Parts: sequence; structure tokens; C-alpha cells
Amino acid sequence: MITHKRIEMDTIEYQKARELRNETLLRPIGIPDYGWEMHDSESFHFAAMDGDSVVGCALLYPLPDSRVDVQLMQMAVAEWMQGKGIGRDIVNELVHFARFRCYHRIVCHSRENVVDFYRKLGFVTYGEPFKEVKILHRHMQLILD
Ligand SMILES: CC(C)(COP(=O)(O)OP(=O)(O)OC[C@H]1O[C@@H](n2cnc3c(N)ncnc32)[C@H](O)[C@@H]1OP(=O)(O)O)[C@@H](O)C(=O)NCCC(=O)NCCS
Repeated sequence: MITHKRIEMDTIEYQKARELRNETLLRPIGIPDYGWEMHDSESFHFAAMDGDSVVGCALLYPLPDSRVDVQLMQMAVAEWMQGKGIGRDIVNELVHFARFRCYHRIVCHSRENVVDFYRKLGFVTYGEPFKEVKILHRHMQLILD
């Protein structure tokens, strides 16, 4: 059974989430392991667990210029667990958390090939496509009620 929880940075779960990010997000596009962690210490971290294994993760980074916007980052589900609803459940957890904390908007930089994943969860694109880590991205946002 997959369970979901918030994790702190001084835990083994956080180290497992970093490794999952290396495998799922960074290595496939040639970024060195641990090479994209600039907002970790200011963020809320979430994990999907299968027993002791972290099979999915994401974080919410409160944007420093705004008291009402958070950025969804580092969204990853282990390759062998993709397509089972784990990514959707993680985002739903984050949305619930963001509402509870009275944030008004969740933004994200979506890789072009996963825009429809976020769209199915209510996010919409805005602005122009842009390149980040050498790949095409779209700005997306979800306005919270
Ligand atoms: C993108 C990712 C997080 C999705 O997680 P997942 O657990 O596989 O997705 P889910 O099974 O929860 O899918 C939820 C819905 O989105 C759809 N979906 C998932 N990935 C999709 C994609 N790449 N393109 C279009 N639709 C997608 C599913 O078909 C499902 O649709 P349904 O509700 O109609 O059945 C995961 O595939 C992943 O980690 N990919 C590699 C890393 C990555 O690109 N991260 C995002 C960086 S911005």
C-alpha cells in the first residue's frame, strides 16, 4: 500500500527522495547528482512511501517575493511505479497542504512532455515556453479557492 507523508530534511526518507530525484529527474537529462537542490532548505517536502521505500516525491517552495504563492518542484515518481496514480496523489496532498496554509496559488515549471499530467490536475499554462536545464518548459499555475 502506498502512503503519503511530509518529510523533514534530517531523515532517511529525505535522503531516499534525493536519490529518487537523481535517478528520475537529473540523470536522464545529464545533470550531476544533487545538482538541483537550491531551494531544498526553504521548502516543504513530501514523499509517497511503499513500505520503507520512497517511490515518489515533490516539494513546495514558498516564493520569497510573495506571501501567497508556492512553487511545486522536484516532482518525481520511480519509473517502475509510474502510471499508477502516485503522482496525482502527491499533487493532491500538496494542494491540500497549500490550502490549509492559506496559499492562493501553486505555480510550477512543467517539462513540456508532462504538461498534460498537470493539466489533468487543474493546472493551466500561462506565458511563453522557456528553456530550463536545456529542455523546454511551460509555466503552469493552479489557483486555490
Ligand atoms: C510526471 C510524473 C510525475 C507523473 O506521475 P505518475 O505517477 O506516473 O502519474 P499518475 O499515474 O498519477 O497520472 C495521473 C494522470 O496523468 C496522466 N499522465 C501521467 N504522466 C503523463 C504524461 N507524461 N503526459 C500526459 N499525461 C500523463 C496519467 O495518464 C493519468 O491520467 P488519468 O487520470 O486520465 O488516468 C512521472 O511520470 C515522473 O516522475 N516522470 C519523470 C520525471 C518528470 O518528468 N517529472 C516532472 C518534472 S516537471
